[in-house]
Amino acid sequence: MTVANVTLNNGVTMPQEGFGVFQVNDLKVCEQAVLDALDVGYRLIDTAQAYGNEAAVGKAIQASSVKREDIFLTTKVWVSNAGYELAQASIMKSMDNLQTDYLDLVLIHQPFGDYYGTYRALEELYKVGKIRAIGVSNFYPDRYVDLVKNVSVTPAVNQLETHVFNQRQNDRIFLEKYGTQIESWGPFAEGKNNLFQNPTLTKIGQSYNKTAAQVALRFLIQSGVVVIPKSTHKERMQQNFDIWDFVLNEQEMQQLQALDTGKSLFIDHYAGETAEMFNDRKL
Ligand SMILES: NC(=O)c1ccc[n+]([C@@H]2O[C@H](COP(=O)([O-])OP(=O)(O)OC[C@H]3O[C@@H](n4cnc5c(N)ncnc54)[C@H](OP(=O)(O)O)[C@@H]3O)[C@@H](O)[C@H]2O)c1
Repeated sequence: MTVANVTLNNGVTMPQEGFGVFQVNDLKVCEQAVLDALDVGYRLIDTAQAYGNEAAVGKAIQASSVKREDIFLTTKVWVSNAGYELAQASIMKSMDNLQTDYLDLVLIHQPFGDYYGTYRALEELYKVGKIRAIGVSNFYPDRYVDLVKNVSVTPAVNQLETHVFNQRQNDRIFLEKYGTQIESWGPFAEGKNNLFQNPTLTKIGQSYNKTAAQVALRFLIQSGVVVIPKSTHKERMQQNFDIWDFVLNEQEMQQLQALDTGKSLFIDHYAGETAEMFNDRKL
């Protein structure tokens, strides 16, 4: 099984499939999950300051026989670390936690707080080689385009809620226009909407001997999206990684495109309550 790479706008390559550790709060469980994921073959690990598990990810990478340079490591700067100085200090702390002296990708986690200050810190660390690529997360077209128009380094990645029920067609027009790679968070919508039992996903999977989960990931891969599914079960990690030996045909892709509702199943980033909630969450 060969995982494809995507080439980012600065020439850096990134595996198109990786492993996410959101809500893996028990640090022992997180360490074991990352070890298992590396053993299965994942080479992209996605964490964040706000997940509280960077140190566990760092321990697992140290303990694993996979070399650091063979791993694409992502973290994200939280809102309470926004602003040039705080962001810079927080990224140094993340590197300590992760036991590494460079990061492959650092994202601004949410479009709140002084994220222009944060972005300047990212640009500077990028220019001195401490971060190989920089980007954003949860930046919808308005804030994404505004950022692109006012910074010197175009974000390499925008990590957005993306799954069969929310396919991000409008966002993708702008990401393509300015050269930013889309990365999916919640590729299974965390199982919402009964994704794992969805009849369209299940039926398409049957002809390839694949599960609904595998079809959901394969659809995103064939749509040019980077995916970072999460599981703390090794057999599911294996299942989720076993998506590189089949190809959905045009008709199947169209059936899956028809599942798009164009709406979030999680959160409204335009709501005042969301801005309050994220600004009030202090790490
Ligand atoms: N930037 C952001 O704001 C943001 C937000 C959310 C997530 N993320 C990133 O995106 C990653 C993935 O998103 P996510 O963790 O929210 O959700 P997800 O990957 O869509 O779904 C994870 C859920 O699906 C279950 N699952 C995994 N594989 C399965 C399978 N083959 N069959 C049945 N159930 C399966 C997992 O359960 P088990 O663990 O029990 O197997 C878990 O409950 C995160 O870990 C994080 O790195 C980023």
